[in-house]
Amino acid sequence: MRLIKTKDYAEASAVAAEIMAAQIILKPDSVIGLATGSTPCGMYANLVKKYQNGLDFSAVTTVNLDEYVGLPEEHEQSYRKFMNDNLFNHVNIKPENTHLPNGMAADPEAECVAYEQLINSLGGIDMQLLGIGHNGHIGFNEPSDHFVCDTNCITLTARTIEANSRFFDSPDDVPRRALSMGIRTILRAKRILLLITSEEKAEILKKAVYGPVTPQVPASILQLHPDVTVVADAGALSAL
Ligand code: GLP
Repeated sequence: MRLIKTKDYAEASAVAAEIMAAQIILKPDSVIGLATGSTPCGMYANLVKKYQNGLDFSAVTTVNLDEYVGLPEEHEQSYRKFMNDNLFNHVNIKPENTHLPNGMAADPEAECVAYEQLINSLGGIDMQLLGIGHNGHIGFNEPSDHFVCDTNCITLTARTIEANSRFFDSPDDVPRRALSMGIRTILRAKRILLLITSEEKAEILKKAVYGPVTPQVPASILQLHPDVTVVADAGALSAL
């Protein structure tokens, strides 16, 4: 695991975008795993600038980590809308090459199987971007007594519902379930880029990087992956 220390959110966003851009330049037809949340917004803004300066997304394929169950694509808080607004609508990626689990699927279990098959059919993920929840979740893989392996339908914890309620009118409006790549899906990515910023993530970064590998802190499993780059700002590093 490589840890890149940056001074603040702006620098962390720029460094993460550099790493992602390098991946795309070296392998223009990369399969990139993407994440949502407030943390990667700055990184996406940097990637849009890089596109305006010549970075080519035309052969890139993306697969997102997760999507809420029950939110149509056009809903303000769907992750599809987030990705369109923050990245896809501003670069030359082909819309048909952008994938998220379908949170409106009539049969969520079948959708999970299909999403896993889609990732396999693409030849796997070259680089997976991750953020981290306050409780150590990656994607929507919540703390548990076991690691969930494949893409699956997850019931969100009260902590995650509360954390994500800032995007909705009230906590009651936050969907209770989400479809998320599983831990094995994530760990199969050839390279992983974990972006973590702000002091409120300091304790969980310490647990994830230096604590025991445990499903109670899902991100701790990243210690076992051979190619993880953590980009953190001074706030997130403040407990180390
Ligand atoms: C959500 C997403 C995660 C993300 C997390 C942290 O729950 N499913 O992929 O890492 O939020 O979000 P933020 O960056 O806003 O703290």
